[in-house]
Amino acid sequence: MKNRRQMAADPAAVERPQLNRLPSGVASVLSVLSSSAVVLDNDDRVLRASAAARTFGLVRGDQLMVGELLALARQVRRDGEIREGEIEVSSSAFGGRRTSFAVRVAPLGSSVGGGGLILLLAEDQTESRRVEEVRRDFVANISHELKTPVGALALLAETMEDAADDPEAVRRFASRMRQEASRLTYLVQDLITLSRIQAAEPIPDPRPVDVAPLVAEALDRCRMKASARGIELTASCDDGLTVLGDEDLLVTALRNLLDNAVAYSPERTRVAVTAAMDGLAEITVADQGIGIPERDLERIFERFYRVDPARSRATGGTGLGLAIVKHVVAAHNGKVTVWSKEGQGSTFTLHLPAISSTPTADGAPAAGLAQPVREAVK
Ligand SMILES: Nc1ncnc2c1ncn2[C@@H]1O[C@H](COP(=O)(O)OP(=O)(O)O)[C@@H](O)[C@H]1O
Ligand SMILES: [Mg+2]
Repeated sequence: MKNRRQMAADPAAVERPQLNRLPSGVASVLSVLSSSAVVLDNDDRVLRASAAARTFGLVRGDQLMVGELLALARQVRRDGEIREGEIEVSSSAFGGRRTSFAVRVAPLGSSVGGGGLILLLAEDQTESRRVEEVRRDFVANISHELKTPVGALALLAETMEDAADDPEAVRRFASRMRQEASRLTYLVQDLITLSRIQAAEPIPDPRPVDVAPLVAEALDRCRMKASARGIELTASCDDGLTVLGDEDLLVTALRNLLDNAVAYSPERTRVAVTAAMDGLAEITVADQGIGIPERDLERIFERFYRVDPARSRATGGTGLGLAIVKHVVAAHNGKVTVWSKEGQGSTFTLHLPAISSTPTADGAPAAGLAQPVREAVK
């Protein structure tokens, strides 16, 4: 270090030891920043670089490796003005993948004009880009999903006008309009539910929830649909099984699984709910329905993903049911798994951290969570 600063030909060399020292406190500030941080000295050498800056390949040894960044730093050193920009860096450490960074370059201390230390901060944009992309896709999907029933409503209204003198036709069209209107209502309700859960991950105020009444309530809500199709609903729950969470959300998740079990099963079959403690609380919904092709299994939890869009539409599905289930269990620190075989049926299992129902020596229920979810998922 010392040798480097005493380059004899440079008249400013005597002042450098002063300028090139990191002002006190800066190092500790840099160490808590999540972005890549680099401090350059008067000779464009790296005085300090965070681990991230090295990992991303922005810095090697005491050299700043990105020409654009160096140019920015020199401009800032010249006029003391803070600059911002975006740069793309292809990093060999990440298999040549291009990473885009939002950068901010500022003079450090009051060494304007006369050169001095320059601070560079670079924020990896990959994750925020990805989130943005998912959001954009979601908005595009929603627009598409809304367009279908709205278009149908407009068309039906038009047809109804033309058929104004035919009461029978009017009645028929009116009933179709009602169907489309409820499709819209379900879609909007599911969207609201989904955004509510996403805003509350993890559950802000979890409470003990008894599983047996939870199952009973979810079953009640889909009993009519089931009996209309001759589908038998059965339930078996361990006594005293309690999970920690939000009762309404858990009922919603379970009801979505039951809705699917009924919707994707032939008439006169059986849907069974069981709830038992196996390290975690495990609530399963098993049907004897059409099953899910293996290639679709990992995608069915995505928003608006359907194996058979026509069938989903015919059963009044919004395509959001399983996405809601996935978010509800995630908000509860749990997970959802699925087993399915085409033509045989499907079994969905919610694995949720439970409050142990085994009484302790003094008779009180043992408080605290059972084991983390990973261990119990087989
Ligand atoms: N129990 C099941 N049996 C067969 N297929 C199912 C079952 N549950 C979900 N699926 C498939 O997963 C897709 C996504 O489910 P979901 O998110 O609830 O949307 P949908 O509104 O279409 O029911 C469904 O369209 C269906 O193809
Ligand atoms: Mg569904």
